Amino acid sequence: MNKRVDLQASAFWMPYTANRQFKKAPRLLARAEGMYYWTADGRQVLDGQAGLWCVNAGHCRPKIVQAVQKQVAEMDFAPTFNMGHPIAFEFAERLAGIAPDRFTRVFFTNSGSESADTALKIALAYQRARGEGQRFRLIGRERGYHGVNFGGMAVGGIPANRKVFGPGVAGVAHIRHTHDLQRNAFSRGQPQHGAEFADTLEQVCAFHDPSTVAAVIVEPVAGSAGVLVPPKGYLERLREICTKHGILLIFDEVITGFGRLGQPFASQRFGVMPDLFTVAKGMTNGTVPMGAVFVKDSIYESFMDAPEGIELFHGYTYSGHPLACAAGIGTLDTYADEGLLTRGASLEKTFEDAIHSLKGARHVIDVRNLGLMGAVELEPRPGQPGARAYEAFLKCFEAGVLVRYTGDTLAFSPPLIVEKAQIERIFDAVGDALKAVH
Ligand SMILES: Cc1ncc(COP(=O)(O)O)c(C=O)c1O
Repeated sequence: MNKRVDLQASAFWMPYTANRQFKKAPRLLARAEGMYYWTADGRQVLDGQAGLWCVNAGHCRPKIVQAVQKQVAEMDFAPTFNMGHPIAFEFAERLAGIAPDRFTRVFFTNSGSESADTALKIALAYQRARGEGQRFRLIGRERGYHGVNFGGMAVGGIPANRKVFGPGVAGVAHIRHTHDLQRNAFSRGQPQHGAEFADTLEQVCAFHDPSTVAAVIVEPVAGSAGVLVPPKGYLERLREICTKHGILLIFDEVITGFGRLGQPFASQRFGVMPDLFTVAKGMTNGTVPMGAVFVKDSIYESFMDAPEGIELFHGYTYSGHPLACAAGIGTLDTYADEGLLTRGASLEKTFEDAIHSLKGARHVIDVRNLGLMGAVELEPRPGQPGARAYEAFLKCFEAGVLVRYTGDTLAFSPPLIVEKAQIERIFDAVGDALKAVH
């Protein structure tokens, strides 16, 4: 059977994909183990993007596989509305155990998008619970990505993700992004310039009246918009302004959580604490979909002060799904056994040197990195935005290395088990690809 012909007519409407282009020349992955995928025709591909920023422990890790296999045979599903199962409570405890102090409560979702919307709803409900119901505004940031549901889309700041979907949620405003190529190009780690970009929050607050603002949501390091590392002092200043105005600060740690920056969570890496933070992806190593919102104890307690009854009218059929919890526990065990939540710190310099070796390569206008996250930004080809990065991505894939492209940026986030030689191979492949792209 000719697979290409089948695929062209396939019923699968692929997400975030140029369907017609892809189906004419599909790239199919059929198997995975450790740092590698294998294509349907048997070619080995080094995974430079941890699946989709999620497979932090590498692929098909035995403890995770076994935990899921055992759980699916024992109890496939059980509800968490007015019922419970021990593994959901156990996983929540385990998560709280690795979270920063005082993040003692965990609300389960099934994805990063659901986590963003859940966090925004908790923020609004919390403000009302403490007698500040006039705080209905939510503030996001340009170039932010908080998934595709209505709340996350509204606070998100990538124009293509918003423009055809109408006004979405009312009462949303955005602060300026932190990208500043003129002053910060080729920064290693946190850029020097731009702490003052946080002051755009003061301006937005002054314009709208800060007493109407419920929450601000940002990614500590913006991922999907091309790995934008916060300038030194920026997150600290954002925190100060939020505290001053009684606004909740939400960190979206869907990418930065679970060791990506050399600490379990970005808040620990930066020493800046939010009031709530969202996770997904690395929480289960991508094995079973799951997300969560971590909530500070004081926020949770304010809900528990209400008269007895359902404290939060929110939840998903699959919140705390047994298979996801099993995968999550297997994942945390694997992270702990192998020290993966902090391994990024010991590899950061190697990764940094390797990615910055592309400074001076053809088309490269910026290289940036933090932890095991990095990006190479290319000069757009005139009249064809994104074409160069797409072609470089294809060339890398042909050379057996999977990287991510977004706009004119190539992004890198290998599994945290990556070895030095594999890091070098990723960036050698990118260097070769750039020589071949016009
Ligand atoms: C920071 C951030 N938030 C939210 C999401 C959405 O997650 P999901 O695709 O699991 O809904 C993503 C996905 O890449 C993300 O990077």
